[in-house]
Amino acid sequence: MPSTKQVVLNAPLDMHLHLRDGEMLENIALCSAQTFSAAIIMPNLVPPVSTKEEVVAYKKRIEHAIADEKFTPYMTLFFKPSYDKVFLESVKDHITAIKLYPAGITTNSEGGVSGFDVEELRPALSAMAALGIPLCVHGETNGFVMDREAEFVSIYEKLASAFPDLKIIMEHITTKESVAALDKFENLYATITVHHLLITLDDVAGGMLQPHLFCKPIAKRPEDREALLKVALEAHPKVMFGSDSAPHPKHAKESCGCAAGVFTSPIALQLLTEIFEKNNVSFDKLQVFVSGNAQNIYGVTPPAKTVVLEKKPFKVPSNYNGVVPMYANETLAYRIKEVNHG
Ligand code: DOR
Ligand code: ZN
Repeated sequence: MPSTKQVVLNAPLDMHLHLRDGEMLENIALCSAQTFSAAIIMPNLVPPVSTKEEVVAYKKRIEHAIADEKFTPYMTLFFKPSYDKVFLESVKDHITAIKLYPAGITTNSEGGVSGFDVEELRPALSAMAALGIPLCVHGETNGFVMDREAEFVSIYEKLASAFPDLKIIMEHITTKESVAALDKFENLYATITVHHLLITLDDVAGGMLQPHLFCKPIAKRPEDREALLKVALEAHPKVMFGSDSAPHPKHAKESCGCAAGVFTSPIALQLLTEIFEKNNVSFDKLQVFVSGNAQNIYGVTPPAKTVVLEKKPFKVPSNYNGVVPMYANETLAYRIKEVNHG
């Protein structure tokens, strides 16, 4: 009898993750901590994580929620133009990056940046560059929803050329324009989600509206998805996997006024494996996309963890502690067989 196909991933990293707080954190943290070695934790709590005390306390709550799992939360602060060198020096050992949100663009981003005036941002961004703190950016303008990310590319270019020593990570890119920007500036990098490798706007709103596929930035056109797939599958050295897994309670998704966010953390590695297989790409590239590139870009060394996936049907549960995942009740080609530490 032929043996079941297996794929082994070492130290998978999720370089963009929403773990939330309180009951939600307790309910969903293990979905990431059991299979990933580490993750960049987004700071868009209410209120946003923006002081040393807040980031230290939030990390403790995450560590409580993940119990004994070997998983490192790479903490971030919510960017404020008022951050100065003295503050950043005092907090730098507690964080891995700082996340910039344009004001009001997505969930809990009301206190973000408006205007993107280079001189206004210079003190904070120059200090970050000097201290080696990367800047993660939610790159959308408040223009027409399908054009927001493409319109933001000129802001990325402005920041990248004004601060050449600052590592700028274009988060959850969804367009061919963002992919093209990667090769124009040495200091621009990107994360890519698994859902944006799989869906287009058609899947969200082309038939009956699918609230569990609604997120910011919204999924775009087939040619955008192709551009993302190309750089993910070749494990382009400037792209990393970042799920943007963003849990909301079922009632907040299946409601009039659906919250943005796709919950993928428990199925992300299974889906990525299937994508690389379907495209006949070596799993060595998947390893680089899901861990190696992030280690190089961020200069991190995550804890050892080996995830073994096997090609056996996996029926996605209808919910994880009340949170509905992408592809709930559908069957995936791969399942997680075991996770080994050390
Ligand atoms: O869809 C999204 N959900 N996009 C974001 O940028 C934020 C996230 C959330 O926090 O729910
Ligand atoms: Zn996010």
